Amino acid sequence: MTAAPLHDLPPHHTDAARDADRALREHAEQARHWHLADLFAEDPRRFETLSLHAGGLLVDISKQRLTADTLEKLRALAAARGLDTWIRCLFEGGEVNWTEGRAAMHWRLRQPPRPQGEPDPVQEQLARMERIVKRILSGQWRGCEGDAITDVVNVGVGGSDLGPLMASVALHENHPREGRRPRVHFVSSMDGSQIAPLLDELNPATTLIVVSSKSFTTVDTLSNAATARCWLEQAFPKMNGAVLRCHFVGVSAKPERMSEWGIHEDNQLLFWDWVGGRYSLWSAIGLPIALTIGMDGFRELLAGANEMDRHFQEAPWEKNLPVLLGLVDVWNLNFLDITARAVLPYDGRLKHWPAYVEQLEMESNGKSVDRDGEVVDYHTCPVIWGEVGPNAQHAFYQLLHQGTQPVACEFLAAARHGRRNGNSAELQPLEEQHILTLANCLAQSRLLALGDRALAEDDGTPTHKRYRGNQPSTTLLLDELTPRHLGALVALYEHKVFVQAVLWGINPFDQWGVEMGKKIAKDMIQVLESGAGADGLDASTRALAAYVRERQPD
Ligand code: F6P
Repeated sequence: MTAAPLHDLPPHHTDAARDADRALREHAEQARHWHLADLFAEDPRRFETLSLHAGGLLVDISKQRLTADTLEKLRALAAARGLDTWIRCLFEGGEVNWTEGRAAMHWRLRQPPRPQGEPDPVQEQLARMERIVKRILSGQWRGCEGDAITDVVNVGVGGSDLGPLMASVALHENHPREGRRPRVHFVSSMDGSQIAPLLDELNPATTLIVVSSKSFTTVDTLSNAATARCWLEQAFPKMNGAVLRCHFVGVSAKPERMSEWGIHEDNQLLFWDWVGGRYSLWSAIGLPIALTIGMDGFRELLAGANEMDRHFQEAPWEKNLPVLLGLVDVWNLNFLDITARAVLPYDGRLKHWPAYVEQLEMESNGKSVDRDGEVVDYHTCPVIWGEVGPNAQHAFYQLLHQGTQPVACEFLAAARHGRRNGNSAELQPLEEQHILTLANCLAQSRLLALGDRALAEDDGTPTHKRYRGNQPSTTLLLDELTPRHLGALVALYEHKVFVQAVLWGINPFDQWGVEMGKKIAKDMIQVLESGAGADGLDASTRALAAYVRERQPD
C-alpha cells in the first residue's frame, strides 16, 4: 500500500489562521482572570454545555478554564489550519508522515473485513495471529519437549511494549472464551533487570518468547531476545533448530531480519511500515493482548477503535471528542501557558495508561519544526506525566493543590467496575472500594477546580492551609472498562494527537529525535570497553567513562 500524495492542503500560515490566533490571544487576556468557581456560579448549565458522550465515554471539560465562546474560537483556528482536509487525508492514506514519505494507517487495522474475495493483507495477518493464539490457548502449541505453553514473554520496547502492556493489564479480568490463557510477561529494559529474575522463575520447557520489534534492529529488544535464546539453548543443548521453532515467535515489519535472526517463517507475524510503532497495538504487536483476553476480546478492542474512527470522521466538530480534546490542550498550552499535564487514572487496572500516553503524545508531538522546515515560535506538546490517582494523592497532589505552577489534570475512571471473574467477584467490600475510589476522583477534581472558597467555613484559615483552586481538569468516564471501551479510548487519544499536530503544523508520525542517541550510545560501548575514542569526548563524559572503566571486573 503506497501513500497518496498530500493534496489541497492549505498552508499553515494564512491570514485566516493569524486572525483566529489573534482573536484567541485577546480572549485569553480575559480568561487569565477567570476563576472556575465563578464560571460554575455564573452558569448552572455549564456541565451540559461542556460535556459529551460517545462510544461509551463521557468527557467532561466543564472544569477547564474556557467557555463555549472559547471553543468556537478554537474551532475557527482549526478550520483555518485545514483540519477537515487533514482528517480526510489521514483516512485516504495520504502521505501525512511527510518526513518519512508515508501514510499513517493504523486505523486500517481496525476496519471490518472487506467483502468476500477481495485480498486483504490486514485480515490475513489477523487470521495468522488467530491461529497462533488458538494453538497456545488450546495447549496445542508445544515446547521442544512436548509440553504445553504456560508462560509467554513479550520482548519489546516503546510501542512494541507499552501498548500491549497497558491493554493486557487493563483488560486482565476479561478471560478468553475458550482455552486456558498463559501467564503473559513483559520485558523491555535493556539492562537485564527485568529478564534475569523472570528467567529464574520460568520453566524453559513451557515458555514461549515473542520478539516484538517493528524494525527488528532495536538493541534493547535484541539484547533481551539474545539472553532469552541463550537461556533456552542452554536448557536444551541438543535440540538445535527445535528451540527456535518451538519457543520463539517474531512480530515485525521486516520479515527478512526476523529470518536472519532465526525466527522460523511459520512463526512470523507481519505488519507494515505505515503503522507507527506507538500506533501498533492493533496489529500483531497486540498478540499479548489477544493471549490475555482471547481473539473475541481482541476483535472487540478493534471494533471500539473503529467506532471512534468513524466518530472522528463524521461527527460535527461541536460533538467530536478527538477534536474537542485536541482543542482543549492547545488552549491550555498556547493561550493559557499551562505547560504541564498530569494523567491520573482512578483505576489500578489502568496503571500503565500514563506511560502509554507519555509515549503516544510526547514522541508524537514533541517536535519543533513545521512542514516548511521552519522552527516554530510556540510551544507544542506539554510535559506529561502521571500515576494511578489514589497513589498520586499521596505523592505529588500537594504540588497540584498548593504549588506555584498551573498543571492541567486529566482524570480517568470507569463508572461501573463490572467485576465478573475470580473468587473476589462477589465481595461487597470491593464494590465499596470502587465507590471510594470514584469519590476521591470527583472530590479531587472539584477541589482543584473550585479551591476552598466553597468549602472552608472559617475566613481566618492561615494561608498555608488554603487551596486557591482554578487548576483546570478534564474528566473521562468509561461506562465500564471493557475491550470495546478501551479500544475507543485509545483511538480517541491517537486522533487527539493528530488534531493537535495539525494545529501546531508538525508531523506526529516520525521520531527523528531518538535516532542520534541510539547512534552515539553504540560508539560509547567502545569507549567503556577499551577506552578507544575517549579523547574526543567532553570533559564530563570522559571522566564518567573513566570512572566506570576503573570499576569493571578484570
Ligand atoms: O523510541 C524509538 C522507537 O522507534 C519507538 O518509536 C518504537 O516504538 C520503539 O523505538 C521500538 O521500536 P521497534 O518496534 O522497531 O523495536
